Amino acid sequence: MLLEGKTAIITGAGSGIGRASALRYAAEGAAVVAADVREAKVEEVAAEIRDAGGRAIACGADVRLAADNERMVDAAVSAFGGLHAFFANAGTIRPGTAVDLPEADWDLVMAVNVKAVFLGAKYAMPVMADGGGGAFVATASVSGLAGDPASIVYSASKAAVINLTRALAVDHARDGVRVNCICPGAIDTPPVGRMLAAEGARERAGAHHLLGRIGQPGEIAAAAVWLSSDQASFVTGQALVVDGGLTAKSRLSGMGDPRPERLRAG
Ligand SMILES: NC(=O)c1ccc[n+]([C@@H]2O[C@H](COP(=O)([O-])OP(=O)(O)OC[C@H]3O[C@@H](n4cnc5c(N)ncnc54)[C@H](O)[C@@H]3O)[C@@H](O)[C@H]2O)c1
Repeated sequence: MLLEGKTAIITGAGSGIGRASALRYAAEGAAVVAADVREAKVEEVAAEIRDAGGRAIACGADVRLAADNERMVDAAVSAFGGLHAFFANAGTIRPGTAVDLPEADWDLVMAVNVKAVFLGAKYAMPVMADGGGGAFVATASVSGLAGDPASIVYSASKAAVINLTRALAVDHARDGVRVNCICPGAIDTPPVGRMLAAEGARERAGAHHLLGRIGQPGEIAAAAVWLSSDQASFVTGQALVVDGGLTAKSRLSGMGDPRPERLRAG
């Protein structure tokens, strides 16, 4: 029970990585505020946690709004008496190059993926500091480490999350709050499932990862739990890549085995 006695807010908890994380944080002993703009989804998640004997409430919230972030934090304090972990995980994606991405899509993705992390920190940090410290975790992406085709705003937003993580870590270390982010590779969540619906697409995507498959939401949830727990007590300001080896392999690997023929045969 890595999170016994702690209270955690998880955003984007209605689906995918956030849903798996809400269930995992609760299984590790945390009281959970499951937040999502799709309120009915988090009502289901909170009920599932309570049915399994855990503690959880749902909070319908749009992470782009300051007032909703404040309300999430207030809900954690009034329901469970404090806040020890905040997982800023809600995110969205819109495809496009600089030429064809609508300006409104730029604003939407930057608001959900970046501004929301700032707003979550704005309200969570003082409460975690008052309680003696805590852990703030954000979901970035391997798309924040390098460019992807026709994904300018998603790539820019996730790169921003990585450096926002470092800047928050610098500011809040003195309050006892550690700040880290996770860079997932391709994870089998509903939006990715839709992208990989075509025949053979899932296998092709998996083949880019050294481990030969795309990841499962629980594999990101496990990293978030660890970063939120006292097991990670000396870890702050880091971008933890959890990608099955997707980014470990250089493009030059495609050029094949560089050993002379006689060694390759052996
Ligand atoms: N799935 C992947 O392969 C992958 C890879 C790298 C990073 N990520 C990141 O992981 C996070 C979770 O993505 P997922 O794949 O689980 O997607 P998902 O669509 O399954 O879940 C995202 C959740 O965020 C919620 N959300 C969206 N906008 C919101 C808003 N304004 N306010 C509150 N909630 C909002 C959605 O309702 C949804 O329930 C995102 O930040 C995403 O960018 C995902």
